Amino acid sequence: MDLGEALSWQGELTCIRHDQDSGAWFVIALDSTRRGPAAGGTRAMTYPSLGDAVADASQLASAMTLKMAITDLPMGGGKSVLVLPRPRAELDEATWRRILELHAANLESLGGSYVTGPDVGTSSRDMDLLGRSTAHVFGRSLDAGGAGSSAEMTAHGVFAAIKAATTEAGRPDLPGQRVLVQGLGAVGARVADLVAAQGAELLVTDVDPARCTSFQDLGAHVVAPDQATSTACDVFVPCATGGVIDITIARSLPAAVVAGAANNVLTERAAAAVLGQRGVVYAPDFVANAGGAVHLVGREVLGWSAETVQRRTAQLGDTLHKIFSDARARDVTTDQAARDLARERLSEPPVA
Ligand code: NAI
Ligand code: PHE
Repeated sequence: MDLGEALSWQGELTCIRHDQDSGAWFVIALDSTRRGPAAGGTRAMTYPSLGDAVADASQLASAMTLKMAITDLPMGGGKSVLVLPRPRAELDEATWRRILELHAANLESLGGSYVTGPDVGTSSRDMDLLGRSTAHVFGRSLDAGGAGSSAEMTAHGVFAAIKAATTEAGRPDLPGQRVLVQGLGAVGARVADLVAAQGAELLVTDVDPARCTSFQDLGAHVVAPDQATSTACDVFVPCATGGVIDITIARSLPAAVVAGAANNVLTERAAAAVLGQRGVVYAPDFVANAGGAVHLVGREVLGWSAETVQRRTAQLGDTLHKIFSDARARDVTTDQAARDLARERLSEPPVA
């Protein structure tokens, strides 16, 4: 995507910076501060072009606005992208630290209108490093005074979404159902554990085969990454990157339910309509994966206890039931019903 196209986005602010020494680009997109400071993670990876990185940051920032609104958290939506000159695993520690220091300086210059946190390619340890130079960081480790990783609560939220969506699909009991988890990282591995503990038949896939081994040892069936969306299952759980389901895949996906953590899992909103026409129940991503935001904002901004965070995360299942029922009543997609509910809340003052 060219840069001009990427910048036609209607968010509040896009900041772009380049560092000649490391070759990294820094993109911060603030979609909305209507409900509070914009919040959203820092994604660190390589991109085909700067335009693709800006488009990714913008679309992910918009998803964060919807996520914060639908969970009634007093934050807006934003996202940062660190466009690495080469894959993170190939960067030496000094270069990575330099990139984080520059990112922290960028966060400081925004004066708290944007607060970051972990995302793909960054961890609590990286948030600790950022936290040495700026206070505008969620998800530092517990030792450093933060709420720790958001992955566990994200996984619990995805599990609540799976239960809500399978119930909507008329197959509420997980034992015996084939559940395919795509991406066994911080969130996906935990979701796989949760569904396996319920007696589901587990199928797993990851581009890093080592991540599949422990699940294979426990009896999971390993699927090749390029077969993820063509392997028959009851529940497809995308927990890798976004852009997994386009219209063509939506027409053929051999699953009854889609519920996972990956942000912006649909390449276009029309894919939700195709899934719906085929009777596939789609749990909108920004609801299914909101447990991490509930954890970070709940613990670090609202002072919630771990029990309150768990309760609010489990309630994502109730929110999904409401969305499914509204979608049925109005004959709109579940994605549309979720966006409408979020927009309704965006027009109200935040109530945490
Ligand atoms: P992660 O980086 O720990 O794990 C991602 C996993 O997906 C890795 O194991 C990677 O090897 C695998 N992967 C990448 N491309 C793949 C492909 N094409 N096929 C199969 N596997 C592939 O990331 P994390 O934190 O687990 O996040 C997963 C997704 O959930 C991301 O899209 C993220 O934006 C989203 N998310 C994460 C939250 C969190 O709290 N960590 C909160 C909300 C959303
Ligand atoms: N990156 C995660 C998400 O997409 C967790 C996160 C939430 C990070 C809120 C920062 C702020 O939900």
